[in-house]
Amino acid sequence: MKECLMKSFTKFVLLPLLAINLAVISTIVIAAPTAKPEKLIQWRQSAYRVAEWNVARLKAALEGQYDKDEAVAAANALAGIADSGIETLFVPGTEQGKGWHETSAKPEVFKDSKRFAELSLSFSKEAAELAKIVPTADSSAVKAQFGKVTRTCKTCHDAFKGKD
Ligand code: HEC
Repeated sequence: MKECLMKSFTKFVLLPLLAINLAVISTIVIAAPTAKPEKLIQWRQSAYRVAEWNVARLKAALEGQYDKDEAVAAANALAGIADSGIETLFVPGTEQGKGWHETSAKPEVFKDSKRFAELSLSFSKEAAELAKIVPTADSSAVKAQFGKVTRTCKTCHDAFKGKD
């Protein structure tokens, strides 16, 4: 009886779990970009530059007379970039090297990829929240959430980015 239970457990629980794990692992391997290191570094530098552009647009939209249409456009763009999976471009082999210029990623990105992924996720979460509230919230609420987004940039840069 006990042996029978063990067999069922193996068949219906362990093996399916193993299959799921393998599927997940192979997805990660497939999802990891296969482009040359130079390209990967260019892409991540470009993505962060576009983030910078949209932060500047939001800042301008919030200064003086609040420009809501501009804020909506910039917040949507920023949320898209934040959720695009930039962190997957920091693969082994890209610790050093040139994209548009020499990478400014610190070695810590590759040593503590868990923390780096966490900070990427909080960037993504705060940017999504900003895009969500911006169509209906007043400018002071937008300002407050925008502050939360830019703090995620700073927190990550302090730990993981050197000088450009
Ligand atoms: C999870 C970490 C993380 C977050 C969040 C983050 N950055 Fe960065 N950023 C980096 C790293 C690492 C680099 C260096 C990339 C490289 O050179 O390979 C970088 C590079 C940059 C660059 C230079 C790009 C270039 O041309 O080399 C700019 C500008 C930038 N980030 C702006 C921002 C802004 C604005 C935000 C928030 C809206 C932000 N970043 C959020 C980690 C982060």
